[in-house]
Amino acid sequence: MEQPIFQVAIDGPAASGKSTVARLLAQRLGGHYLNTGALYRALAWKALSLGLHPDTHPEEVVEMLKGTTLAYRLRQGAPVLHLDGQEAPQEALRTPQVAAVVSQVAKIPALREWLLEVQRDCRHLGIVIMEGRDIGTVIFPQAKYKFFVTASPLERARRRLAQTGEVPQGATLESVAADIARRDALDSTREVAPLRPAPDAILIQTDGHTPDEVAEMLAAHIRQTP
Ligand code: DC
Repeated sequence: MEQPIFQVAIDGPAASGKSTVARLLAQRLGGHYLNTGALYRALAWKALSLGLHPDTHPEEVVEMLKGTTLAYRLRQGAPVLHLDGQEAPQEALRTPQVAAVVSQVAKIPALREWLLEVQRDCRHLGIVIMEGRDIGTVIFPQAKYKFFVTASPLERARRRLAQTGEVPQGATLESVAADIARRDALDSTREVAPLRPAPDAILIQTDGHTPDEVAEMLAAHIRQTP
């Protein structure tokens, strides 16, 4: 039997709960969950490891891409991110050091262009639930299903604080909320592929709902829209 191929685009701001929901939805649909933030984080991590300065010298990061390979490869049926032929260091990608520069990296136009094909190549995996900021608008504008998942800033700060390792030591609800607002502003005002819902995306407000409830809302929509 031929494997079905379709894409579900899940976009939304930082700490909106979209990753958890996308993962749960992938389980329900029997598809592959792909986190595109990890691609930007992997490149930010590599740039930092090489001592580059993405904010003041973005051209160094663009130069770095010439010797870089990045791809999701299936291992035992699950996609695993590989950077330069090695499994990407997942824990290192979630440190505050990487979080501090990743927005700078994500606004470099040539780097986003370079990542276009990396992301579109994932189509061949079959049922793909891809999560990011511009999946419905830029990467897969023809995706069969598009959702924009969000939550209030306070709720998002609470969620971020509950994730260990993601925030600097001594962080408070206020400092985390301010950091999230700063990232949002950078992500939604950058010139290339700013964070915004696709015109045909379904908006999902997640305050007061568990990830399971939200995943079920999305799955229900997909079932009703064959
Ligand atoms: O989802 P995340 O927090 O891991 O994303 C990390 C950064 O990458 C964030 O600053 C937004 C950016 N990003 C993006 O610009 N486009 C995407 N499709 C995914 C992430």
